[in-house]
Amino acid sequence: MTMMMMMCSSLVLLGLIGVSASSSGSSSSSPRMKLSYKDLQQFNGIKWFDLEHSCCFGALLLDEERGRLFVGARNFLLSLSLDNISKQEQKIYWPAPVDWREECNWAGKDINTDCVNYVKVLHHYNRTHLYACGTGAFHPTCAYVEVGQKIEDHVFKIDPSMVEDGKGKSPYDPRHTSASVLIGDELYAGVATDLMGRDFTIFRSMGRRLSIRTEQHDSRWLNEPKFIAAVGVPESENPDDDKVFFFFRETAVEAQGFGKVTYSRIGQLCRNDMGGQRSLVNKWTTFLKARLVCSVPGNDGTETHFDELRDVFLLQTRDRKNPLIYTVFTTSSSVFQGSAVCLYTMNDIRRAFLGPFAHKEGPNYQWVPFQGKVPYPRPGMCPSKTFGSFESTKGFPDNVIQFARHHPLMFNPVTPLGGRPLFLRTGIPYTFTQITVDRVNAADGHYDVMFIGTDIGSVLKVISVPKGSWSNTELLLEELQVFKVRGVLCTVKLVPSAAWLEIHTVPGTDTPAHATCQTQNGTASVILAIT
Ligand SMILES: *[C@@H]1O[C@H](CO)[C@@H](O)[C@H](O)[C@H]1NC(C)=O
Ligand SMILES: *[C@@H]1O[C@H](CO)[C@@H](O)[C@H](O)[C@H]1NC(C)=O
Ligand SMILES: *[C@@H]1O[C@H](CO)[C@@H](O)[C@H](O)[C@H]1NC(C)=O
Repeated sequence: MTMMMMMCSSLVLLGLIGVSASSSGSSSSSPRMKLSYKDLQQFNGIKWFDLEHSCCFGALLLDEERGRLFVGARNFLLSLSLDNISKQEQKIYWPAPVDWREECNWAGKDINTDCVNYVKVLHHYNRTHLYACGTGAFHPTCAYVEVGQKIEDHVFKIDPSMVEDGKGKSPYDPRHTSASVLIGDELYAGVATDLMGRDFTIFRSMGRRLSIRTEQHDSRWLNEPKFIAAVGVPESENPDDDKVFFFFRETAVEAQGFGKVTYSRIGQLCRNDMGGQRSLVNKWTTFLKARLVCSVPGNDGTETHFDELRDVFLLQTRDRKNPLIYTVFTTSSSVFQGSAVCLYTMNDIRRAFLGPFAHKEGPNYQWVPFQGKVPYPRPGMCPSKTFGSFESTKGFPDNVIQFARHHPLMFNPVTPLGGRPLFLRTGIPYTFTQITVDRVNAADGHYDVMFIGTDIGSVLKVISVPKGSWSNTELLLEELQVFKVRGVLCTVKLVPSAAWLEIHTVPGTDTPAHATCQTQNGTASVILAIT
């Protein structure tokens, strides 16, 4: 496998000059500038190094303060320098112990592709340590990684005495997706918590509070979910109201009877949830979810839905309570193919959670909006002084807990800003897989520059010009063909001066053939930096 580092300074800059010149609102759908791999090479040359015996960069963590990019790979953790990617990297060899590998192999898994440690989770923990988790040969494991206080410290090591169980934090199976966020000293993870990969849960662990999870074996709560992202967003000035949101797609329980239909979701929960006292013990009592809709009107008047959420990017604004949520969707239909970017506001999300609960009277009934009296405090509200007098979810009346248990789904979906996608491509031979957004301040306001990764290794750079009304004045600026081999773009991370992209390629093949960012035999990983 090859890990390639590419630097092309002034690319982003070029794009922005183009924006100012065309802010009058002209909208063009053909790329203004299409750069090939060769063009990119000519900008500044390519620098790269190989990381032998590894692949599959399952986690990237940018650390601008230390000038590092931390990478979780197969059997390795890397620390790369942002100034010069070609410089000797620091690395930690972190394999799974031999007995775990053998156990994994006895269970029928492949010794080389499955029974190794894929580092999948990487978070900042405190001023001196990261928190990292890997699959550990189907034996999830986590560790505190010492990185020092300052760049000059050059510390990068795992203390073996600080290695702990990673169940409910990292997936067992390297092919499974998971999403997590570390807030304070607590990890919130959407992950499968069993070897067979059937028991999917949203799990809170670490920290001082008890571990807590979603209700088990209840398809109304989670139904074969694929977790995409997890974020923390405050609801008020009072930390007791802080919420965590999970983005995922799952088999829609409310569309049963139409075959197996996938819907995309946003789920919410309160950070200070302690579970119920008699029912929902050590389970979330504040978990609610709503459908995320991203659709366009079709020819026959019905909506055509982009059902499969692929990626989420939270753009922070001056108000921490109201970040903008950029998302990428694709279709699951064999007839209609396309990809879209939809933008959601916290207002619309909060409105859906304050709307009617979805209710189903019995097996032969339809899902309808719940018409009866919703108990107090309304499920989904955090126990806090802001909205009531409850100190803990353990003090919630039984009827509240019972209601919450049977009504995790909201009836109304969350619709995107403007009611339709911000940017959309149909009938194209590729799909969008990733998004990252940079807000650029200009003399006449600000622009959101979207970098959209595709499954053929290209990056679209699209500008969205918010004109008060968000009247959808998108403008496609550039299409960057960053990699000459077709591959799947897995991760795009953006810092003010650089974009980091990770691409999985299947060498020697021209078609990704439904390749995903899951680890695969024969997959190469690439990290590129565009500055
Ligand atoms: C980056 O590091 C490599 C390897 O140490 C070195 O050869 C190269 O000159 C460095 N480049 C810059 C711009 O410092
Ligand atoms: C960070 O956490 C690690 C692991 O718990 C601990 O050993 C270390 O002292 C902490 N560092 C600081 C600065 O709190
Ligand atoms: C795929 O895995 C097999 C063993 O499972 C190994 O022999 C082979 O070299 C691998 N192929 C690649 C391209 O890594």
